[in-house]
Amino acid sequence: MENLDWQNLGFGYRDTDYNIRCYYRNGQWGELEINSSNQINIHMAATSLHYGQEAFEGLKAFKGKDGKVRIFRMDENAKRMQSSCDGILMAKLPVEKFMEAVRLTVKMNERFVPPYESGAALYIRPLLIGTGPEIGVKPATEYMFMVFVMPVGPYFPEGFKPTDLVIMRKYDRAAPQGTGKFKVGGNYAASMGAGKLAKREGFSAVLYLDSKEKKYLDECGPANFFGIKNNTYVTPLSDSILPSITNKSLMDLAEEMGLKVERRKVPYEELAEFEEVGACGTAAVISPIKGVYDADNDKWFKYGNQKEAGEWSTKLYNKLRAIQYGDEEDKYGWVEVL
Ligand code: PLP
Ligand code: COI
Repeated sequence: MENLDWQNLGFGYRDTDYNIRCYYRNGQWGELEINSSNQINIHMAATSLHYGQEAFEGLKAFKGKDGKVRIFRMDENAKRMQSSCDGILMAKLPVEKFMEAVRLTVKMNERFVPPYESGAALYIRPLLIGTGPEIGVKPATEYMFMVFVMPVGPYFPEGFKPTDLVIMRKYDRAAPQGTGKFKVGGNYAASMGAGKLAKREGFSAVLYLDSKEKKYLDECGPANFFGIKNNTYVTPLSDSILPSITNKSLMDLAEEMGLKVERRKVPYEELAEFEEVGACGTAAVISPIKGVYDADNDKWFKYGNQKEAGEWSTKLYNKLRAIQYGDEEDKYGWVEVL
């Protein structure tokens, strides 16, 4: 096993041993290829470079007490990547090929899966890009799919300590009927300006409102949003947010714990009613939120005791992690033991 400071990895790029690649040419996907270089060689007129024809995924593998490696819900990531491909007219990768590539990449880099005690995980980054040259705006005829991995700690450096979000109405991450529901690079490029401003002011992320009316909560730059009140887990339903696999899992766990679950439009005003608020995603896991600052109206919404995550968020976090690390029975069939 690699000798790394597993407890203090942070969320940053790191080279590992191998990555997997697969090419789409002449109307079909080829075989998986193992590569040990971190460089790719593509045409300067590749559609991914000019017109944003690219989609990515993010998932994790965990090492259990038993030393076994578990991959969390990769079929869901495979399907979401297909949806992103449909969204921006890229060649769709078969679900089974996606999963085979993920398994193989994790296996080939097993020495980088963090030890159980560290609480860290192996982050898996599948990427699909248009590589064929075009100069008019149209889909490429050639594509490249790859998967690489790296050990990571929590996305927000505070980990499971509560942080603040900010609302700034003059920034949108996605158009109402645009690409917000797909995991495509353009959404992240669009969120960088506001994200940088937020970080500079001490916030961990922007909480976006719906870009049409600015009446409803959408999501954060890198994570979905949820609020809890009156024993109810509430999370936005919107055409412009990413369907988070973590959020989907938390909804099931919340229900199992006896919470009501509501996925619906969440008016801005409801921020004043929540007892607990969180951001959730693969990288963020659950990032508890202690305050939302509405910068346009100089108004704060505060949650909990400002020091620790709330009771339900803590229970949900512990339950999800226990399933991911194999401490608890996986009754939903969410993990695949490698
Ligand atoms: N929303 C956005 C914009 C994201 O980038 C992510 C991260 O993948 C999420 C939500 C959370 O999705 P998931 O739980 O599937 O990782
Ligand atoms: C993830 O949670 O996997 C993400 O992709 C979020 C972020 C790193 C963009």
